[in-house]
Amino acid sequence: MSKITSIISCKGGVGKTTTAVNISSYIHTQGKRVLAVDLDYQHNLSKHFGIFPGHLKDKPTVYDLFNAAMDDCSDDEMNEMIHNAIVKSTTVDVLPSTAKLSLLDKVLPTATCREYILKGILKHIKNEYDYIFIDCHPGCDLFAINALAVSDSVIIPVEAHPLGLEGLDQVEKLIGTVQRHLNPDLKVDGILLTKFQNNTNCCRNIRDVVKDGYGNRMHIFDEHIKYSIGVAEAPEFGLSIHEYAPKNDAARSYAKIAMEVMFK
Ligand SMILES: Nc1ncnc2c1ncn2[C@@H]1O[C@H](COP(=O)(O)OP(=O)(O)OP(=O)(O)O)[C@@H](O)[C@H]1O
Ligand SMILES: [Mg+2]
Repeated sequence: MSKITSIISCKGGVGKTTTAVNISSYIHTQGKRVLAVDLDYQHNLSKHFGIFPGHLKDKPTVYDLFNAAMDDCSDDEMNEMIHNAIVKSTTVDVLPSTAKLSLLDKVLPTATCREYILKGILKHIKNEYDYIFIDCHPGCDLFAINALAVSDSVIIPVEAHPLGLEGLDQVEKLIGTVQRHLNPDLKVDGILLTKFQNNTNCCRNIRDVVKDGYGNRMHIFDEHIKYSIGVAEAPEFGLSIHEYAPKNDAARSYAKIAMEVMFK
């Protein structure tokens, strides 16, 4: 049985994609079959894994899978299509996106069973992986709801920055709504503080506010991801932080978080 985990936040640039890439890459090094799903029309996760639109000319992407599902294609068609869409690799397999995904913004709200479209897609490959990570674009919209509706758990990155808490209440509320109406089994793996700078009062304050304000309802990972230029450089080389700079503090922290997520 696979575990599906969404990485979500309402805020942009908080480290969702970085977290999805580095946790999934680390778990792969533990001998597990891992798939990363790019549910963002910025397609940064695909790019981080070295997959660009030019590589996908003959392949369906998440956009095509959503369209086919909204057209009520048969199980056989979807099965074939998703197997064609996945970019296999010697590390993490990727279900990639392109900017075209944004074309669904207007049609997705009109679709029948619109909250369960991703669930209907992933059921065809779920059992081929031990772990599946879904990287969402910023926002609490129908894409995030689709991700939460199919997930066993969710990770919420929060940037250790004075504005980092913006939108956290909204995310908590969305998770509660999904648990009540769509997916009662959804669990919160934890809130993950990112871009943390140990020597600043500002970051320590944010950590305390998160602990005091949310710690009694949601798990907060003990491990924080430190701000490190190595983390920002790694995507340019199509590498995870574990491959790019294995001794980097952020690599160690992502490894610990990954182990926690594996055994939760
Ligand atoms: N720990 C870190 N140290 C330094 N830079 C980081 C760290 N984590 C992420 N970054 C950088 O911050 C930027 C935003 O990170 P990322 O793309 O992971 O955020 P995101 O939440 O996925 O953004 P979006 O909401 O746009 O999808 C990227 O340039 C990334 O390389
Ligand atoms: Mg992102």
